[in-house]
Amino acid sequence: MYANLTVVDHPLIQHKLTILRDKNTSTAQFRQVLREVAVILGCEVTKDLTLGKIDIETPLEKISAPYLEGKKLCFVSILRAGNGLLDGLLDLIPSARVGHVGIQRDHETLEAHRYYFKTPDKLDERLVIVVDPMLATGNTAIDAVNELKKAGAIKIKFLCLVAAPEGVEKLSKAHPDVPIITAALDRKLNDVGYILPGLGDAGDRIYGTK
Ligand code: URA
Repeated sequence: MYANLTVVDHPLIQHKLTILRDKNTSTAQFRQVLREVAVILGCEVTKDLTLGKIDIETPLEKISAPYLEGKKLCFVSILRAGNGLLDGLLDLIPSARVGHVGIQRDHETLEAHRYYFKTPDKLDERLVIVVDPMLATGNTAIDAVNELKKAGAIKIKFLCLVAAPEGVEKLSKAHPDVPIITAALDRKLNDVGYILPGLGDAGDRIYGTK
């Protein structure tokens, strides 16, 4: 296993992942189930958020109660498939800030080409969670993390649904400080950069394109 990889092992995730992998799952169900999985993964990826205390009154008495402290965290969605995970994450944490990185991979060379980058300010004061359902070659993830670090991000995590060993190795080597959280570590990449067994092209499955 890899030192900075967490495979979230929960029966609900594994069940929902099976639905997502099934090629007969409809676009509507795929989108809905991905959103549900994102909520569970979101709990895992945020489990070390720091809590302070605030004074409140319940209907019965005054208490000092736990409350999230610090700057609001920031999700960064790698377009376009990242948005499928983002929806569920925002259900869980509606106040989070959101950045977007547009990266297209060249289908011949599998290299990443960035065409869009927009993030909130004060990245250095936020937990930045990069989201992309598929960690395949790792090129896209590395480019996104490079750019986020240049923009000031210090504490970064990478959240995906399915990871390939090749992508985990490459991202861990380039950015050993970035924990990777996934629902599954699959077998390998095929020769055109798709994850096996995987679930196909996540963007196409979310949006019903080909
Ligand atoms: N991107 C996808 O959407 N699917 C893969 O299998 C690999 C990269």
